[in-house]
Amino acid sequence: MIDVDVVLHEAGLENSHVQDFVRHWAALTGAERIEVINASDDPRLLREALDAGELLPAGEGRYYSRSYVKDTARSEERTVVATSDPADAGVYNNWRPAAEMRPLLEERMRGASAGKTMYVVPYLMAPPGSPLEAYAAGVELTDCRTVVLHMIRMARVGVEHINDLADPASFVRGVHVTGDLETLGQGTPDDQRYFVTVADERTILHYGSSYGGNALLGKIAHGLRQASYDGWRSGQFLAEQFMLLGITDRETGGTYHICGGFPSASGKTNLAMMLAPDALGDRYHVEFYGDDIAWLRVDPEDGRIYAINPEFGVFGVAKDTNEATNPTAVDAIGPDTGTIFTNVAYNENTGDVWWEGKTPEPPADTTGWRDWTGQLISERPADGKDAPWAHPNSRFTTTLAKVPNIAPDFDKAQGVPIDAIIFGGRTRDREPLIRAVTDVAEGVYDGLTLGAEATFAAEGVEGQLRYDPMSMRPFLSYAEGAYAAHWLAIIGAATSKPLFAHVNWFQRDAEDGRFLWPGYRDNLRALLWLMKLKNGEVTGIRTPVGIVPTREELDLAGMDVRPEDLDRLLGIDVARWRQEMEHREEHLAQFGGLPEAIWEAHRRVAAALDAAQS
Ligand code: GDP
Ligand code: PGA
Ligand code: MN
Ligand code: MN
Repeated sequence: MIDVDVVLHEAGLENSHVQDFVRHWAALTGAERIEVINASDDPRLLREALDAGELLPAGEGRYYSRSYVKDTARSEERTVVATSDPADAGVYNNWRPAAEMRPLLEERMRGASAGKTMYVVPYLMAPPGSPLEAYAAGVELTDCRTVVLHMIRMARVGVEHINDLADPASFVRGVHVTGDLETLGQGTPDDQRYFVTVADERTILHYGSSYGGNALLGKIAHGLRQASYDGWRSGQFLAEQFMLLGITDRETGGTYHICGGFPSASGKTNLAMMLAPDALGDRYHVEFYGDDIAWLRVDPEDGRIYAINPEFGVFGVAKDTNEATNPTAVDAIGPDTGTIFTNVAYNENTGDVWWEGKTPEPPADTTGWRDWTGQLISERPADGKDAPWAHPNSRFTTTLAKVPNIAPDFDKAQGVPIDAIIFGGRTRDREPLIRAVTDVAEGVYDGLTLGAEATFAAEGVEGQLRYDPMSMRPFLSYAEGAYAAHWLAIIGAATSKPLFAHVNWFQRDAEDGRFLWPGYRDNLRALLWLMKLKNGEVTGIRTPVGIVPTREELDLAGMDVRPEDLDRLLGIDVARWRQEMEHREEHLAQFGGLPEAIWEAHRRVAAALDAAQS
């Protein structure tokens, strides 16, 4: 038997509540050793992981890992939010009673870390000193070393974050047990995996994966599911799947901050990393604050909404990342950045990595190249030759500090004041490039009715058109009616309100399927129009679904986009929208207790569309 208290004491971890927590789970999972982790352990852990073959070298100061072939994305199906109050059940949160889930997870985890090390990872999901710090501390116990290496990149890790808590019992308790991945029946009726957030006990129990959001408990389980529950219960804040960026106008000296939600793999990371288009680069500069999570609160001083990014790193989609689409990301994952690549293709002779869209064609000389499953490219069977080299959800993990356009004040404790909140997703028609919404209830309604194509970031749903409220569908932790009311309460409490907008970079040509808008860096043009609208410099055109730019108002300098495409990009197809309103009505009707203000917003938009049709 390991003496847990001695190990923790020697590591300088003095919080007795943490000691109790570790003691309990060490005994239950049967771990053989315990190790307390600080960020400074990174070089040693990297060496150990390389020696053990868990990581492979990918050039100077970069690393490569492969996850188990059936463990490459989040599983929405196996994700549960549990509490002791059945009223917390919503349409999307897969609510189950805590009293049922806890014993079930304990049974799965019992003895499942035998022979392994249990790493104790104390972390903080917030810039230190943040007004929301009380909700940010956590301890993840994990039996997987590569998970620890990811945690060190994605969260602020170290015992200092857990020793001096105002309330020493108040930290999120996370337990991650990998399990025997080859025997878990992933995706079958006999699936053994469970990813559970026991929200009213601030406890996260994840079993059966070592991939991304299934295993790094600070990020999605704490940063989104637990935090959104805490934000609601405390009445203090919103925790959303939002990117967060700043725009500086060098000509006027103005700075703006925009945050917003797009479903996983729909452009958040690319937007926040965006380099201004060449023709606008002298005047505008985009600053990166965050790419996946923002916590929003009202500041008592000036009554504005402030946002922080609780994360410390970026877990970005590799596909189509290149010098033209995202030069910022290319730098952030360059030599000596400590980047970990997961499930891209790998050359075992040179340590090079490749993914679809890194270059137009894969490397011509296939010597040494293996696909994401580990299969030699040169030996792939005839029926597997066209399969992608990299998994569509392959990723890079790097820290915020390595992102070249990181905002100088990215870790400012108060966060930054928000000028606009945007929603978007992959929508092949109907949704224009941008439409602004000035009314708060209509803005919240717009978020709640966000409809988009699901992506490969979750198992088994790619391409499905579905509603994804605020892009939080996989992360909602309480009932949607209460969620909508909490949104109205937080934004309603701001004395200076953000502008809302809906954006869409993914409209396609009906015939050949190509994207009508070039996207990436050019997306700044839509955001600049929004800021001009906010400043009263443009008026746009009022439509039943919001204000859209005129062609002339959109700065298209240095860009060639076909005039007929521009008409489609900025147009509102009223007949198509009226159909959409019927689907929205059904979607919203599923939610119990939806605030009347949301229904009123829905009816206003519907009536305006009816009037426009006749
Ligand atoms: P996130 O998961 O929401 O952070 O999305 P990412 O920014 O990682 O992008 C997901 C995928 O969409 C990547 O393959 C990107 O290359 C692609 N993508 C991002 N922005 C755009 C865009 O403006 N236009 C197009 N066509 N693709 C984009
Ligand atoms: P993404 O982050 O939104 O950048 O894809 C990971 C996830 O949501 O699973
Ligand atoms: Mn995400
Ligand atoms: Mn992202």
